[in-house]
Amino acid sequence: MKIAVSGKGGAGKTTLAGVMARVLAGRGKKIIAIDADPDSNLASAIGFGEESLGPVKPLALMEEFIAERTGARKGEYGSFFQLNPRVDDIPERFSITKEGVRLIILGNIPQGGGGCFCAENALLRSLLSHVIIERDEYVIVDLEAGLEHLGRGTTEYIDALIVVVEPGRRSFQTARQVRKLADDIGIKKVYIVGNRVTSQEDRDFIRENLEDFPLLGFISQNEKIAEADRRGVSPYDLDQKVRDEIAEIIDALEDSGR
Ligand SMILES: Nc1ncnc2c1ncn2[C@@H]1O[C@H](COP(=O)(O)OP(=O)(O)OP(=O)(O)O)[C@@H](O)[C@H]1O
Ligand SMILES: [Mg+2]
Repeated sequence: MKIAVSGKGGAGKTTLAGVMARVLAGRGKKIIAIDADPDSNLASAIGFGEESLGPVKPLALMEEFIAERTGARKGEYGSFFQLNPRVDDIPERFSITKEGVRLIILGNIPQGGGGCFCAENALLRSLLSHVIIERDEYVIVDLEAGLEHLGRGTTEYIDALIVVVEPGRRSFQTARQVRKLADDIGIKKVYIVGNRVTSQEDRDFIRENLEDFPLLGFISQNEKIAEADRRGVSPYDLDQKVRDEIAEIIDALEDSGR
């Protein structure tokens, strides 16, 4: 199953992606998590400590490797480079694994539009497509708010685009925008997860305002989640409740595919 997580800034995308990865790994699934946010912090939400990250660099910063595979230097415009570089060995070579979760950190992917079509863009997008299309594991991609990184060829392989929303109108607006973008590129299965809910009222507020979206479940406002972030550990390792809530979200997703 291929899952992408989106939503407005700070909505809880990384928290959901990280804990989902751990829950699935805990169920014995093979899983690849991909951090496609330039402000990479999926690692700590999965539970990689600073020590395990020490030597790991986001792929976007690996200039020599990008040059070797694409034939062009990072940021080089207008020169010739390989549009479909070899990427199939990257998941094994450049990932780190912890608690059964394999993590690939992409780093900053330059936008494809606006004339920038540079070497690292070609490499990172090829990699993302490869993982989504060819790998048979569970794949979870932590995106920034936009969907630019999901190339057209990959969209039919995305089983779920989950938009994380908070009980607030701005969040609902983002959900609608994301669905519009998803629609434009051919992703049909857009779901929502409500985060930071404090009451039944919050749940109803989200349900009623986004009643035309399939809803997978809720994550409560939870001081342990914030504490996990402050301590640089995974919420999964700190709190049973968030584990249970996100396990239910995964169950709902799997049921919806049946
Ligand atoms: N349910 C919750 N209860 C308490 N704190 C939460 C909850 N969900 C997320 N947080 C905290 O809010 C902050 C933002 O969450 P997170 O990083 O998961 O969001 P994001 O959507 O990935 O943000 P960004 O847009 O910056 O990538 C983090 O400090 C996180 O610990
Ligand atoms: Mg994030």
